[in-house]
Amino acid sequence: MAAVETEAARRRTFAIISHPDAGKTTLTEKFLLYAGAIGRAGAVQTRKTDRATTSDWLELEQQRGISVSSAVARFEHDSHVLNLLDTPGHRDFSEDTYRVLSGVDAAVMVLDAARGVEPQTEKLYAVCKARGTPVITFVNKMDRPTPEPLEILDDIERTLGLVGQPVTWPIKPEGQFQGVIDRRTARAFRFEAAGVRGGQMAQEDEADLTGSDSWVSEDVREEVELLDAIGADVDVDAFLAGTASPVFFGSALSNFGVRLLLDAIVELAPPPAARPTRDGGHRAIDEPFSGLVFKIQANLDPRHRDRMAFVRVCSGRFERGETLINHRTGRGTTAKYATAVFGRDRETVDEAYPGDVIGLINAMDLVAGDSLHAQGAPVVFPPLPTFTPEHFATAHPTDRNRTKQFRKGVDQLDEEGVVQVLRHPDLGDQAPIWAAVGRLQFEVATWRMEHEFGAPVRLEGTRFEVARATDEDGAKVLAGMRDVEVYRRSTGAPMALFRSRFVADRVAADNPELMLDTLVLS
Ligand code: G4P
Repeated sequence: MAAVETEAARRRTFAIISHPDAGKTTLTEKFLLYAGAIGRAGAVQTRKTDRATTSDWLELEQQRGISVSSAVARFEHDSHVLNLLDTPGHRDFSEDTYRVLSGVDAAVMVLDAARGVEPQTEKLYAVCKARGTPVITFVNKMDRPTPEPLEILDDIERTLGLVGQPVTWPIKPEGQFQGVIDRRTARAFRFEAAGVRGGQMAQEDEADLTGSDSWVSEDVREEVELLDAIGADVDVDAFLAGTASPVFFGSALSNFGVRLLLDAIVELAPPPAARPTRDGGHRAIDEPFSGLVFKIQANLDPRHRDRMAFVRVCSGRFERGETLINHRTGRGTTAKYATAVFGRDRETVDEAYPGDVIGLINAMDLVAGDSLHAQGAPVVFPPLPTFTPEHFATAHPTDRNRTKQFRKGVDQLDEEGVVQVLRHPDLGDQAPIWAAVGRLQFEVATWRMEHEFGAPVRLEGTRFEVARATDEDGAKVLAGMRDVEVYRRSTGAPMALFRSRFVADRVAADNPELMLDTLVLS
Protein backbone atom coordinates (compact mmCIF):
# COMPACT_ATOMS: atom_id res chain seq x y z
CA MET A 1 0.00 0.00 0.00
CA ALA A 2 2.97 2.31 0.34
CA ALA A 3 2.82 2.95 -3.41
CA VAL A 4 -0.69 4.34 -3.03
CA GLU A 5 0.44 6.84 -0.43
CA THR A 6 3.47 7.89 -2.44
CA GLU A 7 1.46 8.29 -5.62
CA ALA A 8 -1.34 10.16 -3.84
CA ALA A 9 1.18 12.53 -2.28
CA ARG A 10 2.35 13.46 -5.81
CA ARG A 11 -1.14 14.34 -6.99
CA ARG A 12 -2.82 17.75 -7.00
CA THR A 13 -6.39 17.70 -8.27
CA PHE A 14 -7.99 21.08 -8.84
CA ALA A 15 -10.39 23.14 -10.95
CA ILE A 16 -10.37 26.74 -12.09
CA ILE A 17 -13.35 28.80 -11.00
CA SER A 18 -14.05 32.12 -12.67
CA HIS A 19 -16.56 34.31 -14.40
CA PRO A 20 -16.62 34.12 -18.22
CA ASP A 21 -13.85 36.22 -19.79
CA ALA A 22 -11.71 36.38 -16.69
CA GLY A 23 -9.11 34.23 -18.43
CA LYS A 24 -9.75 30.60 -17.49
CA THR A 25 -9.09 29.28 -20.98
CA THR A 26 -5.98 31.38 -21.42
CA LEU A 27 -4.60 30.25 -18.08
CA THR A 28 -5.36 26.60 -18.83
CA GLU A 29 -3.50 26.97 -22.08
CA LYS A 30 -0.50 28.48 -20.33
CA PHE A 31 -0.47 25.73 -17.70
CA LEU A 32 -0.34 23.13 -20.43
CA LEU A 33 2.36 25.06 -22.24
CA TYR A 34 4.50 25.20 -19.16
CA ALA A 35 4.08 21.53 -18.55
CA GLY A 36 4.97 20.77 -22.15
CA ALA A 37 1.61 19.08 -22.60
CA ILE A 38 1.03 21.19 -25.70
CA GLY A 39 3.59 22.54 -28.09
CA ARG A 40 2.81 26.21 -28.30
CA ALA A 41 -0.10 28.50 -27.83
CA GLY A 42 -2.42 28.76 -30.77
CA ALA A 43 -1.59 31.71 -32.93
CA VAL A 44 -5.20 31.89 -33.99
CA GLN A 45 -7.30 33.79 -31.52
CA THR A 46 -10.78 33.54 -32.84
CA ARG A 47 -13.51 35.49 -31.16
CA LYS A 48 -15.68 33.31 -29.08
CA THR A 49 -19.14 33.25 -30.45
CA ASP A 50 -21.64 30.60 -29.82
CA ARG A 51 -19.55 28.80 -27.27
CA ALA A 52 -21.87 27.22 -24.86
CA THR A 53 -22.76 23.62 -24.68
CA THR A 54 -19.48 21.98 -25.40
CA SER A 55 -16.71 21.94 -22.90
CA ASP A 56 -14.65 25.08 -22.99
CA TRP A 57 -11.66 22.92 -23.69
CA LEU A 58 -13.22 21.28 -26.65
CA GLU A 59 -13.78 24.81 -27.84
CA LEU A 60 -10.13 25.54 -27.23
CA GLU A 61 -9.28 22.57 -29.39
CA GLN A 62 -11.58 23.58 -32.16
CA GLN A 63 -10.86 27.27 -32.27
CA ARG A 64 -7.20 27.41 -31.53
CA GLY A 65 -6.25 24.18 -33.15
CA ILE A 66 -4.39 22.76 -30.20
CA SER A 67 -5.05 19.48 -28.60
CA VAL A 68 -6.18 19.33 -25.03
CA SER A 69 -8.53 16.87 -23.47
CA SER A 70 -12.04 18.02 -22.85
CA ALA A 71 -12.73 17.08 -19.28
CA VAL A 72 -9.50 16.54 -17.42
CA ALA A 73 -6.05 17.76 -18.24
CA ARG A 74 -3.30 15.83 -16.65
CA PHE A 75 0.21 17.19 -16.67
CA GLU A 76 3.36 17.11 -14.65
CA HIS A 77 5.02 19.98 -12.87
CA ASP A 78 7.96 19.71 -10.54
CA SER A 79 7.67 15.91 -10.26
CA HIS A 80 4.00 16.17 -9.37
CA VAL A 81 0.98 15.00 -11.31
CA LEU A 82 -1.56 17.77 -11.73
CA ASN A 83 -5.14 16.85 -12.62
CA LEU A 84 -6.99 19.93 -13.79
CA LEU A 85 -10.73 19.30 -14.05
CA ASP A 86 -12.67 21.51 -16.40
CA THR A 87 -15.72 23.19 -14.89
CA PRO A 88 -17.97 22.77 -17.91
CA GLY A 89 -20.61 25.12 -19.14
CA HIS A 90 -18.46 28.09 -18.29
CA ARG A 91 -20.76 30.29 -20.37
CA ASP A 92 -23.82 28.86 -18.79
CA PHE A 93 -24.30 27.17 -15.48
CA SER A 94 -25.49 23.64 -15.20
CA GLU A 95 -25.59 21.12 -12.42
CA ASP A 96 -22.40 19.70 -13.84
CA THR A 97 -20.47 22.83 -13.09
CA TYR A 98 -21.00 22.33 -9.39
CA ARG A 99 -20.63 18.59 -9.46
CA VAL A 100 -17.13 18.82 -10.84
CA LEU A 101 -16.12 20.68 -7.70
CA SER A 102 -16.85 17.51 -5.73
CA GLY A 103 -13.99 15.87 -7.55
CA VAL A 104 -11.27 18.36 -6.59
CA ASP A 105 -9.10 19.02 -3.56
CA ALA A 106 -8.47 22.70 -4.34
CA ALA A 107 -9.55 25.45 -6.69
CA VAL A 108 -7.79 28.29 -8.47
CA MET A 109 -10.02 31.34 -8.55
CA VAL A 110 -9.24 33.57 -11.51
CA LEU A 111 -10.37 37.19 -11.27
CA ASP A 112 -10.25 39.87 -13.90
CA ALA A 113 -8.35 42.50 -11.93
CA ALA A 114 -10.49 45.34 -13.27
CA ARG A 115 -13.78 43.59 -12.62
CA GLY A 116 -13.07 41.94 -9.30
CA VAL A 117 -15.36 39.22 -7.99
CA GLU A 118 -18.18 38.65 -10.50
CA PRO A 119 -21.45 36.71 -10.04
CA GLN A 120 -20.43 33.36 -11.48
CA THR A 121 -17.26 33.32 -9.42
CA GLU A 122 -19.34 34.08 -6.39
CA LYS A 123 -21.62 31.10 -7.00
CA LEU A 124 -18.77 28.71 -7.66
CA TYR A 125 -16.94 29.97 -4.62
CA ALA A 126 -20.06 29.28 -2.52
CA VAL A 127 -19.73 25.60 -3.43
CA CYS A 128 -16.04 25.62 -2.49
CA LYS A 129 -16.91 27.29 0.78
CA ALA A 130 -19.67 24.79 1.57
CA ARG A 131 -17.23 21.96 0.93
CA GLY A 132 -14.29 23.62 2.68
CA THR A 133 -12.23 23.49 -0.52
CA PRO A 134 -9.05 25.59 -0.30
CA VAL A 135 -8.84 28.33 -2.93
CA ILE A 136 -5.77 29.97 -4.46
CA THR A 137 -6.50 33.32 -6.11
CA PHE A 138 -4.99 34.53 -9.37
CA VAL A 139 -5.66 38.19 -10.12
CA ASN A 140 -5.41 38.23 -13.90
CA LYS A 141 -5.05 40.96 -16.54
CA MET A 142 -2.70 43.08 -14.44
CA ASP A 143 -1.28 44.41 -17.72
CA ARG A 144 -4.46 46.45 -18.08
CA PRO A 145 -5.77 49.36 -16.03
CA THR A 146 -6.76 48.03 -12.61
CA PRO A 147 -7.77 49.31 -9.19
CA GLU A 148 -5.15 49.45 -6.45
CA PRO A 149 -4.19 45.95 -5.25
CA LEU A 150 -5.49 46.69 -1.75
CA GLU A 151 -8.89 47.50 -3.24
CA ILE A 152 -8.86 44.17 -5.05
CA LEU A 153 -8.14 42.32 -1.81
CA ASP A 154 -10.85 44.33 -0.11
CA ASP A 155 -13.35 43.33 -2.77
CA ILE A 156 -12.51 39.63 -2.27
CA GLU A 157 -13.00 39.92 1.46
CA ARG A 158 -16.20 41.96 1.23
CA THR A 159 -17.86 39.88 -1.48
CA LEU A 160 -16.76 36.41 -0.49
CA GLY A 161 -15.83 36.72 3.16
CA LEU A 162 -12.45 35.30 2.18
CA VAL A 163 -9.22 36.86 3.44
CA GLY A 164 -6.81 37.40 0.55
CA GLN A 165 -3.20 36.98 1.57
CA PRO A 166 -0.86 38.34 -1.10
CA VAL A 167 2.02 36.00 -1.91
CA THR A 168 3.10 38.22 -4.77
CA TRP A 169 2.57 41.96 -4.97
CA PRO A 170 2.21 43.92 -8.18
CA ILE A 171 4.75 46.55 -9.14
CA LYS A 172 2.54 49.09 -10.77
CA PRO A 173 3.71 52.64 -10.19
CA GLU A 174 1.51 55.20 -11.91
CA GLY A 175 -0.62 52.46 -13.40
CA GLN A 176 2.25 50.95 -15.38
CA PHE A 177 2.55 47.21 -14.77
CA GLN A 178 6.22 46.41 -14.34
CA GLY A 179 6.14 43.07 -12.59
CA VAL A 180 5.56 41.37 -9.28
CA ILE A 181 7.45 40.87 -6.08
CA ASP A 182 7.52 37.46 -4.50
CA ARG A 183 7.09 38.46 -0.88
CA ARG A 184 8.47 35.16 0.41
CA THR A 185 11.86 35.67 -1.17
CA ALA A 186 11.82 39.46 -1.67
CA ARG A 187 12.64 38.92 -5.33
CA ALA A 188 11.16 41.00 -8.09
CA PHE A 189 10.11 39.61 -11.47
CA ARG A 190 10.05 42.04 -14.35
CA PHE A 191 7.13 42.08 -16.75
CA GLU A 192 8.02 42.52 -20.39
CA ALA A 193 4.96 43.47 -22.34
CA ALA A 194 6.54 43.25 -25.76
CA GLY A 195 6.63 40.13 -27.82
CA VAL A 196 4.37 38.01 -25.72
CA ARG A 197 1.24 37.92 -27.81
CA GLY A 198 2.37 35.24 -30.19
CA GLY A 199 2.54 32.73 -27.40
CA GLN A 200 6.20 33.17 -26.54
CA MET A 201 7.13 32.60 -22.94
CA ALA A 202 7.68 35.92 -21.24
CA GLN A 203 11.00 36.30 -19.56
CA GLU A 204 10.62 36.56 -15.85
CA ASP A 205 13.55 38.73 -15.11
CA GLU A 206 14.45 38.19 -11.52
CA ALA A 207 16.08 40.81 -9.36
CA ASP A 208 16.81 41.14 -5.69
CA LEU A 209 14.38 43.60 -4.21
CA THR A 210 16.80 44.74 -1.56
CA GLY A 211 19.65 45.36 -3.98
CA SER A 212 20.73 48.98 -4.35
CA ASP A 213 20.33 48.78 -8.13
CA SER A 214 16.76 47.52 -7.86
CA TRP A 215 14.47 48.83 -10.56
CA VAL A 216 11.52 48.59 -8.22
CA SER A 217 10.27 52.02 -7.24
CA GLU A 218 10.61 53.27 -3.71
CA ASP A 219 6.82 53.50 -3.30
CA VAL A 220 6.28 49.86 -4.14
CA ARG A 221 9.06 48.79 -1.82
CA GLU A 222 7.37 50.72 0.94
CA GLU A 223 4.05 49.00 0.22
CA VAL A 224 5.72 45.63 0.56
CA GLU A 225 7.45 46.65 3.77
CA LEU A 226 4.10 47.73 5.12
CA LEU A 227 2.52 44.38 4.24
CA ASP A 228 5.40 42.63 5.98
CA ALA A 229 4.99 44.85 9.01
CA ILE A 230 1.29 44.07 9.39
CA GLY A 231 2.02 40.38 8.93
CA ALA A 232 -0.18 39.91 5.86
CA ASP A 233 1.39 36.53 5.22
CA VAL A 234 0.01 33.25 4.03
CA ASP A 235 -1.59 31.35 6.84
CA VAL A 236 -1.51 27.78 5.57
CA ASP A 237 -3.96 26.52 8.19
CA ALA A 238 -6.51 29.20 7.31
CA PHE A 239 -6.00 28.41 3.61
CA LEU A 240 -6.57 24.69 4.15
CA ALA A 241 -9.63 25.48 6.26
CA GLY A 242 -10.97 27.58 3.38
CA THR A 243 -11.04 30.91 5.24
CA ALA A 244 -8.02 32.57 3.64
CA SER A 245 -6.64 32.51 0.12
CA PRO A 246 -3.07 33.04 -1.06
CA VAL A 247 -3.20 35.68 -3.79
CA PHE A 248 -1.02 35.90 -6.92
CA PHE A 249 -1.03 38.71 -9.45
CA GLY A 250 -0.21 38.26 -13.10
CA SER A 251 -1.27 38.15 -16.70
CA ALA A 252 -2.26 34.84 -18.19
CA LEU A 253 -2.20 36.20 -21.71
CA SER A 254 1.40 37.34 -21.30
CA ASN A 255 2.29 34.18 -19.44
CA PHE A 256 3.36 36.27 -16.52
CA GLY A 257 3.06 34.99 -12.97
CA VAL A 258 1.88 31.62 -14.21
CA ARG A 259 4.90 29.65 -13.06
CA LEU A 260 4.67 31.09 -9.55
CA LEU A 261 1.03 30.04 -9.51
CA LEU A 262 1.86 26.52 -10.68
CA ASP A 263 4.57 26.25 -8.04
CA ALA A 264 2.02 27.33 -5.45
CA ILE A 265 -0.43 24.65 -6.53
CA VAL A 266 2.25 22.05 -5.91
CA GLU A 267 3.43 23.65 -2.66
CA LEU A 268 0.17 24.75 -1.09
CA ALA A 269 -2.76 22.80 -2.54
CA PRO A 270 -3.40 19.69 -0.49
CA PRO A 271 -2.78 16.22 -1.92
CA PRO A 272 -5.69 13.76 -1.85
CA ALA A 273 -6.55 12.91 1.72
CA ALA A 274 -9.02 10.81 3.70
CA ARG A 275 -12.47 11.60 2.38
CA PRO A 276 -15.56 12.09 4.54
CA THR A 277 -18.19 9.37 4.16
CA ARG A 278 -21.94 9.63 4.54
CA ASP A 279 -21.92 7.87 7.91
CA GLY A 280 -19.71 10.59 9.36
CA GLY A 281 -16.49 8.59 9.08
CA HIS A 282 -13.59 8.82 6.64
CA ARG A 283 -12.15 6.69 3.87
CA ALA A 284 -8.37 6.73 4.17
CA ILE A 285 -6.45 6.89 0.89
CA ASP A 286 -4.65 3.61 1.53
CA GLU A 287 -7.87 1.64 1.97
CA PRO A 288 -9.07 -0.53 -0.95
CA PHE A 289 -10.27 1.21 -4.10
CA SER A 290 -13.17 3.62 -3.85
CA GLY A 291 -14.35 6.34 -6.21
CA LEU A 292 -17.01 8.96 -6.65
CA VAL A 293 -18.95 9.43 -9.88
CA PHE A 294 -19.13 13.21 -10.24
CA LYS A 295 -20.35 13.56 -13.78
CA ILE A 296 -22.05 11.62 -16.53
CA GLN A 297 -21.79 12.64 -20.12
CA ALA A 298 -23.54 11.02 -23.05
CA ASN A 299 -22.31 11.23 -26.61
CA LEU A 300 -19.18 13.01 -25.54
CA ASP A 301 -17.62 12.36 -28.87
CA PRO A 302 -19.78 12.10 -31.97
CA ARG A 303 -17.43 9.45 -33.30
CA HIS A 304 -18.17 7.18 -30.34
CA ARG A 305 -21.83 7.23 -29.40
CA ASP A 306 -21.40 6.43 -25.80
CA ARG A 307 -21.97 7.42 -22.25
CA MET A 308 -19.08 8.15 -19.97
CA ALA A 309 -19.02 8.18 -16.19
CA PHE A 310 -16.26 10.31 -14.70
CA VAL A 311 -14.93 8.84 -11.51
CA ARG A 312 -12.62 10.51 -9.06
CA VAL A 313 -10.43 7.94 -7.36
CA CYS A 314 -10.77 8.52 -3.59
CA SER A 315 -8.81 5.63 -2.15
CA GLY A 316 -6.65 2.71 -3.19
CA ARG A 317 -5.19 1.73 -6.52
CA PHE A 318 -7.49 1.35 -9.48
CA GLU A 319 -6.67 -1.49 -11.83
CA ARG A 320 -8.24 -1.97 -15.21
CA GLY A 321 -10.46 -5.01 -15.35
CA GLU A 322 -11.30 -4.87 -11.67
CA THR A 323 -14.96 -5.22 -10.66
CA LEU A 324 -16.27 -2.05 -9.06
CA ILE A 325 -19.41 -2.25 -6.97
CA ASN A 326 -21.94 0.56 -7.18
CA HIS A 327 -23.16 1.05 -3.65
CA ARG A 328 -26.57 2.37 -4.70
CA THR A 329 -27.52 -0.67 -6.79
CA GLY A 330 -25.25 -3.28 -5.28
CA ARG A 331 -24.25 -4.25 -8.81
CA GLY A 332 -20.76 -4.64 -10.17
CA THR A 333 -19.20 -2.97 -13.19
CA THR A 334 -16.12 -4.42 -14.78
CA ALA A 335 -13.90 -1.52 -15.59
CA LYS A 336 -12.56 -2.91 -18.80
CA TYR A 337 -12.58 0.29 -20.71
CA ALA A 338 -11.36 2.91 -18.33
CA THR A 339 -9.76 5.87 -20.03
CA ALA A 340 -7.49 8.54 -18.69
CA VAL A 341 -7.61 11.20 -21.32
CA PHE A 342 -10.88 12.35 -22.72
CA GLY A 343 -11.96 14.26 -25.73
CA ARG A 344 -10.92 13.06 -29.12
CA ASP A 345 -7.87 11.15 -28.04
CA ARG A 346 -8.50 8.50 -25.50
CA GLU A 347 -5.91 6.56 -23.71
CA THR A 348 -6.64 3.40 -21.86
CA VAL A 349 -5.49 3.44 -18.26
CA ASP A 350 -4.23 0.40 -16.52
CA GLU A 351 -3.94 1.94 -13.10
CA ALA A 352 -4.90 5.11 -11.29
CA TYR A 353 -4.36 6.52 -7.83
CA PRO A 354 -6.23 8.81 -5.42
CA GLY A 355 -6.75 12.19 -7.05
CA ASP A 356 -6.87 10.78 -10.57
CA VAL A 357 -9.98 10.81 -12.70
CA ILE A 358 -10.95 7.84 -14.80
CA GLY A 359 -13.66 7.64 -17.41
CA LEU A 360 -15.80 4.53 -17.46
CA ILE A 361 -17.35 3.96 -20.84
CA ASN A 362 -20.88 2.64 -21.11
CA ALA A 363 -21.23 2.00 -17.42
CA MET A 364 -24.96 2.33 -17.90
CA ASP A 365 -26.22 2.08 -14.38
CA LEU A 366 -24.06 4.82 -12.91
CA VAL A 367 -25.41 8.25 -12.05
CA ALA A 368 -23.65 11.32 -10.72
CA GLY A 369 -23.17 11.00 -6.99
CA ASP A 370 -22.73 7.21 -7.01
CA SER A 371 -20.06 5.71 -4.82
CA LEU A 372 -18.00 2.85 -6.23
CA HIS A 373 -15.87 0.47 -4.25
CA ALA A 374 -13.80 -2.65 -4.57
CA GLN A 375 -15.43 -5.91 -3.63
CA GLY A 376 -15.73 -6.41 0.09
CA ALA A 377 -14.86 -2.83 0.96
CA PRO A 378 -18.11 -0.82 0.82
CA VAL A 379 -18.26 2.91 1.21
CA VAL A 380 -20.75 5.66 0.48
CA PHE A 381 -19.80 9.29 0.02
CA PRO A 382 -22.05 12.28 0.82
CA PRO A 383 -24.36 13.58 -1.91
CA LEU A 384 -23.11 16.12 -4.42
CA PRO A 385 -24.11 19.71 -3.74
CA THR A 386 -26.12 21.70 -6.25
CA PHE A 387 -27.87 25.03 -6.21
CA THR A 388 -31.59 25.50 -6.46
CA PRO A 389 -32.63 26.16 -10.04
CA GLU A 390 -33.53 29.61 -11.28
CA HIS A 391 -35.33 28.82 -14.54
CA PHE A 392 -38.46 26.73 -14.93
CA ALA A 393 -40.48 25.37 -17.83
CA THR A 394 -43.12 22.70 -18.24
CA ALA A 395 -42.17 20.08 -20.82
CA HIS A 396 -44.83 18.51 -23.05
CA PRO A 397 -44.24 15.85 -25.70
CA THR A 398 -45.39 17.26 -29.04
CA ASP A 399 -46.21 13.76 -30.26
CA ARG A 400 -48.53 11.81 -27.98
CA ASN A 401 -47.38 8.53 -29.54
CA ARG A 402 -43.89 9.02 -28.26
CA THR A 403 -44.60 9.11 -24.54
CA LYS A 404 -42.23 6.23 -23.86
CA GLN A 405 -39.33 7.97 -25.58
CA PHE A 406 -40.30 11.18 -23.83
CA ARG A 407 -40.09 9.56 -20.39
CA LYS A 408 -36.83 7.83 -21.19
CA GLY A 409 -35.26 11.06 -22.42
CA VAL A 410 -36.49 13.08 -19.48
CA ASP A 411 -35.10 10.53 -17.02
CA GLN A 412 -31.77 10.41 -18.79
CA LEU A 413 -31.38 14.20 -18.88
CA ASP A 414 -32.33 14.37 -15.22
CA GLU A 415 -29.77 11.73 -14.37
CA GLU A 416 -27.05 13.58 -16.22
CA GLY A 417 -27.99 16.86 -14.60
CA VAL A 418 -28.74 18.53 -17.93
CA VAL A 419 -31.97 19.69 -16.31
CA GLN A 420 -33.51 18.91 -12.95
CA VAL A 421 -36.88 17.28 -13.32
CA LEU A 422 -39.53 18.21 -10.78
CA ARG A 423 -42.85 16.43 -10.52
CA HIS A 424 -46.02 17.44 -8.81
CA PRO A 425 -47.37 14.59 -6.67
CA ASP A 426 -50.83 15.00 -8.27
CA LEU A 427 -49.63 15.23 -11.87
CA GLY A 428 -46.84 12.68 -11.88
CA ASP A 429 -45.08 12.15 -15.18
CA GLN A 430 -47.57 14.04 -17.32
CA ALA A 431 -46.07 17.47 -17.40
CA PRO A 432 -42.84 17.53 -15.47
CA ILE A 433 -41.23 20.84 -14.77
CA TRP A 434 -37.75 21.25 -16.08
CA ALA A 435 -35.66 23.35 -13.80
CA ALA A 436 -32.23 24.70 -14.56
CA VAL A 437 -29.52 26.81 -13.08
CA GLY A 438 -28.88 28.40 -16.49
CA ARG A 439 -31.38 28.93 -19.29
CA LEU A 440 -29.19 27.39 -21.94
CA GLN A 441 -29.71 24.02 -20.33
CA PHE A 442 -33.23 24.07 -21.80
CA GLU A 443 -31.89 24.46 -25.31
CA VAL A 444 -29.50 21.58 -24.86
CA ALA A 445 -32.23 19.43 -23.33
CA THR A 446 -34.79 20.25 -26.05
CA TRP A 447 -32.28 19.52 -28.77
CA ARG A 448 -31.30 16.23 -27.24
CA MET A 449 -34.92 15.19 -26.68
CA GLU A 450 -35.58 15.58 -30.36
CA HIS A 451 -32.34 14.32 -31.88
CA GLU A 452 -31.20 11.73 -29.41
CA PHE A 453 -34.44 10.34 -28.01
CA GLY A 454 -36.78 11.03 -30.92
CA ALA A 455 -39.25 12.82 -28.66
CA PRO A 456 -39.64 16.48 -29.61
CA VAL A 457 -40.89 18.67 -26.79
CA ARG A 458 -42.71 21.94 -26.39
CA LEU A 459 -41.75 24.08 -23.44
CA GLU A 460 -44.20 26.29 -21.67
CA GLY A 461 -43.48 28.97 -19.12
CA THR A 462 -44.48 28.38 -15.52
CA ARG A 463 -45.67 30.75 -12.88
CA PHE A 464 -42.63 30.06 -10.72
CA GLU A 465 -39.55 32.17 -10.35
CA VAL A 466 -37.71 30.84 -7.34
CA ALA A 467 -36.99 27.43 -5.82
CA ARG A 468 -35.84 26.46 -2.35
CA ALA A 469 -34.87 23.04 -1.04
CA THR A 470 -36.98 22.00 1.91
CA ASP A 471 -37.65 18.92 4.06
CA GLU A 472 -40.78 16.90 4.87
CA ASP A 473 -41.80 19.23 7.73
CA GLY A 474 -41.37 22.19 5.43
CA ALA A 475 -43.35 20.46 2.68
CA LYS A 476 -46.33 20.06 5.03
CA VAL A 477 -46.35 23.68 6.12
CA LEU A 478 -45.81 25.06 2.61
CA ALA A 479 -48.50 22.87 1.03
CA GLY A 480 -51.23 25.08 2.48
CA MET A 481 -49.76 28.40 1.36
CA ARG A 482 -50.67 30.62 -1.56
CA ASP A 483 -48.19 31.23 -4.37
CA VAL A 484 -46.13 28.21 -3.34
CA GLU A 485 -46.19 24.65 -4.65
CA VAL A 486 -44.18 21.71 -3.40
CA TYR A 487 -42.72 19.55 -6.15
CA ARG A 488 -40.51 16.48 -5.84
CA ARG A 489 -37.09 15.78 -7.31
CA SER A 490 -36.35 12.33 -8.72
CA THR A 491 -34.76 11.50 -5.38
CA GLY A 492 -38.11 12.22 -3.74
CA ALA A 493 -36.69 15.28 -1.99
CA PRO A 494 -39.21 18.13 -1.78
CA MET A 495 -38.54 21.38 -3.61
CA ALA A 496 -40.66 24.45 -2.94
CA LEU A 497 -41.46 26.63 -5.94
CA PHE A 498 -42.47 30.25 -5.36
CA ARG A 499 -44.23 32.77 -7.56
CA SER A 500 -41.55 35.35 -6.91
CA ARG A 501 -38.47 36.09 -4.87
CA PHE A 502 -40.62 38.42 -2.83
CA VAL A 503 -42.92 35.56 -1.80
CA ALA A 504 -39.96 33.31 -1.01
CA ASP A 505 -38.33 35.96 1.15
CA ARG A 506 -41.58 36.75 2.93
CA VAL A 507 -42.31 33.09 3.68
CA ALA A 508 -38.77 32.65 4.97
CA ALA A 509 -39.05 35.75 7.17
CA ASP A 510 -42.45 34.73 8.56
CA ASN A 511 -41.39 31.14 9.22
CA PRO A 512 -37.81 31.16 10.45
CA GLU A 513 -38.09 27.51 11.50
CA LEU A 514 -38.73 26.34 7.92
CA MET A 515 -35.90 24.79 5.94
CA LEU A 516 -35.59 26.87 2.78
CA ASP A 517 -32.10 26.43 1.36
CA THR A 518 -30.47 27.58 -1.83
CA LEU A 519 -27.89 24.79 -1.72
CA VAL A 520 -29.37 21.37 -2.38
CA LEU A 521 -27.51 18.63 -0.61
CA SER A 522 -29.56 15.55 -1.44
P1 G4P B 1 -12.53 32.62 -20.10
O1 G4P B 1 -12.04 31.27 -20.52
O2 G4P B 1 -12.43 32.83 -18.62
O3 G4P B 1 -13.84 33.00 -20.64
O4 G4P B 1 -11.52 33.71 -20.66
P2 G4P B 1 -10.46 33.62 -21.84
O5 G4P B 1 -9.25 32.90 -21.38
O6 G4P B 1 -11.11 33.14 -23.07
O7 G4P B 1 -10.09 35.16 -21.93
C1 G4P B 1 -11.05 36.15 -22.18
C2 G4P B 1 -10.41 37.31 -22.90
O8 G4P B 1 -9.46 37.92 -22.03
C3 G4P B 1 -9.65 36.90 -24.14
O9 G4P B 1 -9.75 37.96 -25.07
C4 G4P B 1 -8.23 36.80 -23.65
O10 G4P B 1 -7.28 36.96 -24.67
C5 G4P B 1 -8.19 37.93 -22.65
N1 G4P B 1 -7.17 37.75 -21.61
C6 G4P B 1 -6.90 36.66 -20.87
N2 G4P B 1 -5.89 36.90 -20.02
C7 G4P B 1 -5.50 38.17 -20.21
C8 G4P B 1 -4.47 39.00 -19.64
O11 G4P B 1 -3.72 38.59 -18.77
N3 G4P B 1 -4.40 40.27 -20.12
C9 G4P B 1 -5.22 40.74 -21.09
N4 G4P B 1 -5.04 42.00 -21.48
N5 G4P B 1 -6.17 40.00 -21.66
C10 G4P B 1 -6.32 38.72 -21.23
P3 G4P B 1 -10.85 38.04 -26.19
O12 G4P B 1 -10.46 39.14 -27.09
O13 G4P B 1 -12.21 38.06 -25.58
O14 G4P B 1 -10.77 36.65 -26.86
P4 G4P B 1 -9.71 36.15 -27.89
O15 G4P B 1 -10.21 36.67 -29.17
O16 G4P B 1 -8.39 36.72 -27.48
O17 G4P B 1 -9.80 34.67 -27.76
